[in-house]
Amino acid sequence: MNKLKDTFGRKFPYIRLSITDICNYKCTYCLPQGYKKTPGDMRSFMTAEEISRLTKALAELGVCKIRLTGGEPTVRKDFFDILKDMKQNSNIPKITMTTNGYRLDKIAKQLHEVGLDGINISIDSLNRETFKKLTGHDRLPEILEGIKILQKLNFKNIKVNAVLLRGINDSHKEFEKFGNFIKDNKIDFRFIELMQTGDNLDYFKKNHVSSKIFKDYLEKNNWVYQTYGKDAGPALNFIHPEYKGKFGLIAPYSKDFCKTCNSLRVTSRGDLRLCLFGNTGISIRHLLQNNDQKEELIDLITKQLHLKKESHYLELGDTGITKNLSTTGG
Ligand code: 5AD
Repeated sequence: MNKLKDTFGRKFPYIRLSITDICNYKCTYCLPQGYKKTPGDMRSFMTAEEISRLTKALAELGVCKIRLTGGEPTVRKDFFDILKDMKQNSNIPKITMTTNGYRLDKIAKQLHEVGLDGINISIDSLNRETFKKLTGHDRLPEILEGIKILQKLNFKNIKVNAVLLRGINDSHKEFEKFGNFIKDNKIDFRFIELMQTGDNLDYFKKNHVSSKIFKDYLEKNNWVYQTYGKDAGPALNFIHPEYKGKFGLIAPYSKDFCKTCNSLRVTSRGDLRLCLFGNTGISIRHLLQNNDQKEELIDLITKQLHLKKESHYLELGDTGITKNLSTTGG
């Protein structure tokens, strides 16, 4: 039974859990100068033990999927301990992760062995040079190799995300390149429309493109919109008989985006965030200190949910307290 419901009738079976803010990439839209500590925030990241307690409480609230995110979650030395504990002890049916693909070729086998249920990998360009310019790292080949290894192991549920950026990956030629990639690859490739954050206003003004151009491209090239059940998240998915993979788009500025919202976030320092762009972020960490606090924790999370707003108000230029996505993992 899912006990997480808000006052607008939305259910939240899905939690994005950030385990670190640290990211080793310097993506131009997120951390162009690289990761730096938030001045004034002396709080440490949640410990593996705190994360374990949180996960168990979430399972009792009916959460059926947790996505581990960051920062880059794999930079944590105890990343595999956290993942293993979730898979073995939490009762959450699906544990997935978002990653920048760093060292994916090296850890693919281990991810498979632990029983990870899905992976979202960020690849903003399939052009090696462009990838390097965007992220500050010449690591595209190792990511692609990592994907191949996962596929050989018959790993299901591989998604690739790219942020749609003006003049970089928004041409038909680029769309075709991504198309060729998913033609014989059972991979969901999704474009995310660039979101304005507290840090990136100038960048946003220069580089934001409406995902309509990609949607138009898909429709022109006979991709068919795939309707989903009630619990589907905000991505729009498209299928094509000649392609094994799917195309998708995530358009946070579209009118009904928040209607399908089905996820809550917990930051790496243990704040419950009701919306990626909301102004509310209460700490639940004081209730992660011992096992006896579980009921109190469940109570607090349930009550907080009643405060979730109907929309993110992003279209009004209100980015809330989100300076960049490194604390909340997108
Ligand atoms: N707008 C859109 N997507 C973003 N991401 C990070 N910052 C932004 C932003 N400002 C993406 C990452 C990754 C996902 C977790 O979020 O590239 O694909």
